[in-house]
Amino acid sequence: MSVTVNTENNVFLLSTASTSYAFGVDDRGLLRHLYWGKKLPSAEELEVPSLTEVSTNDPVFEITPGEFPVHGGLRYKEHCLKAAFADGTRELVYQYCGYDVEQEENWEKLVVHLKDDHYEFCIDLQYLLYPAYDLMERSVVIRNQTESPVRIDRIHSAQLHIPYENLNFSNVHGHWGAEQQRFTQKVSYGKIVIENRRGISSHNHNPYFILDRDATETSGEVYFGALRLTGNFKGIVEQTPYGETLVQMGLNDHDFTLELTPGESFQAPGLLFGYSDSGFETMSHNLHHFARKELMRQELKPVLYNSWEATEFHVTSQEQIKLAHKASEMGAELFVLDDGWFGERHSTQNGLGNWYVNEGKFPNGLEELVDAVKGLGMKFGIWVEPEMVNPKAQLYQQHPDWIYHYETRVTDTSRVQYVLNMTKPEVREFIYNMLDNLLTRYDIDYIKWDANRPISQTGPQTDIWCKHIQTIYQVVTELKKKHPDVLFEACASGGGRIDYGILGIFDDFWTSDNTDAYDRLYIQDSYSTVYPIKAMRAWVTDCPNFLSGRVIPLTFRYHSAMMGSLGVGCNILKFSPEEMELSQRMISQYKQIRPVIQDGDFYRLENPSANGYFLYEYLKDDQGVIFAFLPQSKVGHRGTTVRLRNLEENEAYTVYTSQGEVVKSGSYLMYHGLPLRLAGDYASAVIRFEKKHTQKG
Ligand code: GLA
Repeated sequence: MSVTVNTENNVFLLSTASTSYAFGVDDRGLLRHLYWGKKLPSAEELEVPSLTEVSTNDPVFEITPGEFPVHGGLRYKEHCLKAAFADGTRELVYQYCGYDVEQEENWEKLVVHLKDDHYEFCIDLQYLLYPAYDLMERSVVIRNQTESPVRIDRIHSAQLHIPYENLNFSNVHGHWGAEQQRFTQKVSYGKIVIENRRGISSHNHNPYFILDRDATETSGEVYFGALRLTGNFKGIVEQTPYGETLVQMGLNDHDFTLELTPGESFQAPGLLFGYSDSGFETMSHNLHHFARKELMRQELKPVLYNSWEATEFHVTSQEQIKLAHKASEMGAELFVLDDGWFGERHSTQNGLGNWYVNEGKFPNGLEELVDAVKGLGMKFGIWVEPEMVNPKAQLYQQHPDWIYHYETRVTDTSRVQYVLNMTKPEVREFIYNMLDNLLTRYDIDYIKWDANRPISQTGPQTDIWCKHIQTIYQVVTELKKKHPDVLFEACASGGGRIDYGILGIFDDFWTSDNTDAYDRLYIQDSYSTVYPIKAMRAWVTDCPNFLSGRVIPLTFRYHSAMMGSLGVGCNILKFSPEEMELSQRMISQYKQIRPVIQDGDFYRLENPSANGYFLYEYLKDDQGVIFAFLPQSKVGHRGTTVRLRNLEENEAYTVYTSQGEVVKSGSYLMYHGLPLRLAGDYASAVIRFEKKHTQKG
C-alpha cells in the first residue's frame, strides 16, 4: 500500500519508491500539510499542529501550512479555490468528511472529501500515486449541489510546500523560433509568477516548476511539478516569512470565471510532481519514464520527410511526388504534405476553413499523391489547422458568428486568421466531421495539427480559456477511437504546444520552427529536462538556415536532429549525389540506434573541457549511444573527456569509435572517461557502445 492513514490522528502518508508526502486533519477539521521529501517509514511519527493564535498579525492559517488553502477568513496568501455563492458570499469554509482509496496495477488514488459548512458544495482532493515512477499527481474536483449557480473565480490544482528558503527556480522563456530557453533565478521574498494568457501557446513559459537547492545533474535536492494543461496556466512560487516556499499551479484566473450550474462538477487539471535527492537527471528520468510508459504510444516514431521548407505554400501534385521519390530513396518512412494543399491557400491570406483539396494543385485529386507515397512504401501525413479560419474563406463568410468575437468590436487578425469558437457544439461538430471525412476518404496515417495564433476577444464566455482546449482533447481522442492507427502531431507555430496535458492525447510534437542545428542543441537540451526524447521532433533543413543565416555541415545537422525523432525538411530535389548518399547513411544509422534514442534513458553529460562541447548519452539495456558536438574550437584546443553514466562497473563495454573498437570496463568509462577530441568548427560524432557479452556476430 502506498497510502497509509493513521486514523487515530487523521494523518495521511503517501509514498512512492523513494519519496513521501504527508498531511493531516487539524483540530478544526482543516487540512494541514506535514511533509514532502525523501521516503518516511510510517505515519505514526507525524504530528498535526493545533491552531492556536500566536500573534494577531500572524493569523494561525498563515503560519501553519494549509494543504489546500481556500479564499476567506484570515487568509492572505495565495488561495487555490475561490467561489462566489448566489447570495454574494465569497468565502469557503470547509470541513473534512472522510476519504476513499482506490487501487489499480500502476497507481493508487486517495480522495479526501471536504464539504462546505453551510452550502452543499463539495471539494474532493485527489492524490494519485505512481509508485514505480516516484511521481504523484494532485487534482481537485468541485461539485455544486446547491440549487443555484456557483461562480468559480479561481481554481488551482494544488499547493505544495517546500521547507526551505532561497531555492533556485527554473523554467523556460522564449518566443517563436526561440522556444525552451532555460532560465534559473533565486527565489527570495515576494512572488514569482509564470503563466500563459494566450489560450494556445506555450512559447513563452511552460507549465512546470523546478525548485532546487543548488542541485547538479547528479546531486542535490530537486522539487518539481508539471501541470497537465495546455494553454492558460498559472504558476506561483512564494517564499513566505515563515521559512518555507509555496508553489501553486492551476488554471489561470486571468479573464476567467467558471459557472457551475446546480448539480454540475468540474475537475482541475492534474499537477504531476516529484522529489529527487540526486539532482536533475533523476527528475528527468522519472518524468520521461512516466510519459513513455503511461502516456505515449509504444511504437517507435517513423523517420519523416516534410515538404514545408522545400515548397512552402506552392505545392503541386507532381512536385510532391518527385519529393516523395527522393524521400523514399533516402530512407524516409513517412511523407508529410504541409500547408497549402487546400482551398485557395496560396499564402497566409486565404484557405483556412475551406478544407477541400485544391483542384489546380491536385488536378487528379489527392489520391494521386497518396497512392504514389504508398506505392513507395511510405506512410502519408497531412497538415491541418482546424481551429482557424481566414476572413476571406467561405467558412467565415457563411458563419461569421463561429469565431471568438465581441459584437461591438472589430476582431483582431493574426497571420490573417481568426480563431473558431471550439466550444460551440456546431463548430466542434464541423471540425470533427472535417477531420473524420479526411481520414475516412484518404489513406492518411499522420495529422500535423497546427495552431498559429493566440486566442483573443473571446465574447461573453469567460470559461473558454479552459473549455477550448478541453474540446480539442475530446475531438482528437474521439478521432483516435475511430482511426486508431493515425498519429497526431501537435504544432503551434513551432513548439507552442508541448505540456503534460497534451502529451499522450497527441503523439508527436514539433519542437520549434527554429531548425538551426546549433540553436537546436540548446532547445533540445532544455526540452529534455521535462519532456521525453520520443516527443521531440527534429528536422534536418537547408543552409543557410532561414532564421539564423548560419551554414552548418550536413553531418552536424543530421547528428543534431538524430537526438530526437528524426525528420528531414530540406529541398531534396536540389541535393547533390554526395548529400543524398550522406543522408542515406545517416538515416540508416538512425534506424539502427532509434530504439536506444527513443526508448532509452537520456543523460546530459558533464563537459569537463574548456571547449564548449555538448555531450549526451542514451542507454537502453545493453546498448548505448554517445552524441558529441563541438560548435567552435577555441585556441589551444585540448579535447574533452566523456564520462558515461549508469553503466555496470564490472562489465566490459565495446565502444565503436571512429578509430576502431575500444573495450573498457563500466568503471573506466564512468570514472576515468573516454578521451575525445573533435577537430574544427561544427564538428560532431555519434559513437555507439554496447555491453560486451551481448555483442552480436
Ligand atoms: C507553422 C509551422 C510550420 C509550418 C507552417 C505552415 O509555422 O510551425 O512547421 O507547418 O506553420 O504554414
